[in-house]
Amino acid sequence: MAKYGHFDDANREFVITRPDTPLPWLNMLGQDDFFGICTQTAGGYSFWKDARLRRLTRYRYNSNPMDNDGRFLYIKQGKTIWNPGWKPVRTPLDAFECRHGLGYTRITGRKGGVEVEQLIFVPPDENVEIWKVTVRNASRTTKRLSLFSFVEFCFFEALNDMTNYQRTYSIGEVEVEGSAIYHKTEYRERRNHYTLFGCTRDIAGYDTSRDAFVGVHHGLHDPRAVLAGRCSNSRAYGWNPIGAHQVDLAIKPGKSEAFAFVLAYVEQGDLPKFDAPFVMNKAKGRDVLAKYSDMAVVDGAFAALRRRWLDLLSAYQAPQVPNVHLQRMTNVWNQVQCMATFNLSRSTSGYETGIGRGMGYRDSNQDILGFVHLLPARARQRILDIASTQLSDGTCFHQYQPLTKKGNADVGGGFNDDPLWLILSTCAYVRETGDRTILGEPCGYADKPGSRDTLLHHIETSMAYTLRNRGPHGLPLIGHADWNDCLNLNCFSKEPNESFQVTGDIAGSKAESVMIAGLFLYAARELAALYRFLGSPADAARLDGHHADMLRTVEEQAWDGAWYTRAFDAEGRPVGSKACDEGKIFIESQAWCVLGGAGAGNGRAKKALQAVEKYLYRPDLGCALQWPPYSTYHLELGEVTSYPPGFKENAGVFSHNNTWIHICWALLGDGRRALDYYLSICPSAKRDHDVYRSEPYVYAQMTASQFSPTPGEAKNSWLTGTAAWSFVVGSQYILGVRPEFDGLRVDPCVPTDWKGFTVQRRFRGVTYTISVRNPRGRSKGVKSLLVDGRRVEGNVIPLAAGAGTAVSVEATLGS
Ligand code: BGC
Repeated sequence: MAKYGHFDDANREFVITRPDTPLPWLNMLGQDDFFGICTQTAGGYSFWKDARLRRLTRYRYNSNPMDNDGRFLYIKQGKTIWNPGWKPVRTPLDAFECRHGLGYTRITGRKGGVEVEQLIFVPPDENVEIWKVTVRNASRTTKRLSLFSFVEFCFFEALNDMTNYQRTYSIGEVEVEGSAIYHKTEYRERRNHYTLFGCTRDIAGYDTSRDAFVGVHHGLHDPRAVLAGRCSNSRAYGWNPIGAHQVDLAIKPGKSEAFAFVLAYVEQGDLPKFDAPFVMNKAKGRDVLAKYSDMAVVDGAFAALRRRWLDLLSAYQAPQVPNVHLQRMTNVWNQVQCMATFNLSRSTSGYETGIGRGMGYRDSNQDILGFVHLLPARARQRILDIASTQLSDGTCFHQYQPLTKKGNADVGGGFNDDPLWLILSTCAYVRETGDRTILGEPCGYADKPGSRDTLLHHIETSMAYTLRNRGPHGLPLIGHADWNDCLNLNCFSKEPNESFQVTGDIAGSKAESVMIAGLFLYAARELAALYRFLGSPADAARLDGHHADMLRTVEEQAWDGAWYTRAFDAEGRPVGSKACDEGKIFIESQAWCVLGGAGAGNGRAKKALQAVEKYLYRPDLGCALQWPPYSTYHLELGEVTSYPPGFKENAGVFSHNNTWIHICWALLGDGRRALDYYLSICPSAKRDHDVYRSEPYVYAQMTASQFSPTPGEAKNSWLTGTAAWSFVVGSQYILGVRPEFDGLRVDPCVPTDWKGFTVQRRFRGVTYTISVRNPRGRSKGVKSLLVDGRRVEGNVIPLAAGAGTAVSVEATLGS
């Protein structure tokens, strides 16, 4: 860890101490509508709401050097050219530090007696990204230097921007007014918005033409204007518009100067579009720049961001946890990642290009589980948006665009787990808030525009869909795939140009998923509990009946002797069974059958988990998705067999599904295993970052397993369902403070050598301080619960206190 950086827990920051990390280490900026990704060398890009449809700056994925576009500052000091973030010039620095914090990144570089700090953040509720720049002279002589800013504008629609050059090279337009650069491509026709890149200080020059500033045969590492020490006030007309300012500074010894660059997305609204032919009405942009030209306002905006985050995090804090990794992940970084997955789903990261997957139906539903306590009102709206992408027959658009909220027709539906996840997100919301009105909210079906069916109707439609679509064993049909997007039992693709996901006819198919059966069991229980809460015992009993029927089917059809079978293929042959040559045991069906209540009374739950431990688990890596990996491509199984062994769904350690096993161990009362398994995939607990390579503060989707040549190497950080589920594991199952419909349950499952811990939880307006004591060295089981000194039966804190009050709870483990 120390080689590249360390956690600063008190400041809730991760401090990167050298710029050449094994992979770019990213932070996420923005919490409302304006977002950006930002690496330790200031790489990344910004967008408003939708990284495909409203991208403001350009970024080239899969570039070499990696992460080569960004929010760059160049310093020209005599003959030396350097960046405070080291890249793109890569001049060796005298000192470097990057602090990734809560919605901000602060990069500081020092060279030749000059220190430049770039603090990048998006203030709450604003469509603006601010770079506060502080230049300090740490030497004994006056320093004269030129500082250049640089961004490359994107023409808003990112896919077109990176593919359609016969058009895009002839559409670029800008205006410049003082130190404000306006990027206004397509504004004359159908766009009513523009990008502003301004400097709050007087400038010595600017450039808006990439050819002029960088040069056709130069690169970002040696831009012509910076080499020459002078911008040429170029006006882009077509080609590639950029924004670059030149600021000339003379700073006395020991002095510093601070100013800011402002990158804003401006919607014109009803204002007149033009002041004169070809002259845009820039009134709104001027106001934004004027506002932030006061450094006190910039500092105030940063302070507001700090307050916003501290307030958010105060909904859940566990200040005294015996394990540092669990403590810092649940208190800070896991919640930060949950915010990112909620906002971005699977659209924008260092691995998701912003033009691909948009918001995933199953993904976004699961993301809510780790987010709902932060901003329940936003979770509420999201649930209704997601539900509106369901069709009236119960299928769902697998993905949708955040800007339009419309389903992506190229992928369509037919992923048969999708409908059920809506039940989990809705129940999590009602448990958190007690707000049952959401269930009656009208939200139409995607194929019935204007319809006013309710959310509860959607939920019932989801259940009915699963019940109606079952195969020869009575198990749910899988469709294109279930949670495992790569288990394509109806695809049969022989063509490399085909999509595994949507090739193949699912109509009339017989392939079944045990994982969906387990998810159905879980959803049925959730819904039954919801109906009890709503005072509808008859509906609850109906759901109990469905649960009992499906449970019987699972136990009769899916038990393979020592674990649960994963699926049945289109020919009715088992997948994930001892009868298979490869892929004998899969993790998902063990997890979901156990989570749904299978194996509880007959010892199978424990056996299934023991099989996971025996065949899939490695304490230093986590659990592989299945075993043995597929060595050849199987037409009848699809993409899961396409990956090299040990990667992704072909027996990689897919962090997301590990978390379900963690919950299972907690349900079984094994606190040692729950924690050890939790730590096995926890990024903060990884020690060798030349092996792990990804960020130590957020989960990655996948770690190469023991079946690959690079075990322990992580990929695809940030946007993974692991974020939400790990927060659920840490906060609700290990530390055990779990929202119920009628109160807050205290049900920890911890190692026996833990003496106790404290959790502060804001729940329905009341702040609970819950002290858990473990005098007898137990793993699980609350013996006594004192609420404000009064004994309560069971382990649920009743909803007695009024909003705004503080309640003190003492829970003692024992029997
Ligand atoms: C997708 C998830 C899917 C998982 C496993 C992820 O890339 O976003 O929806 O469940 O892969 O296949």
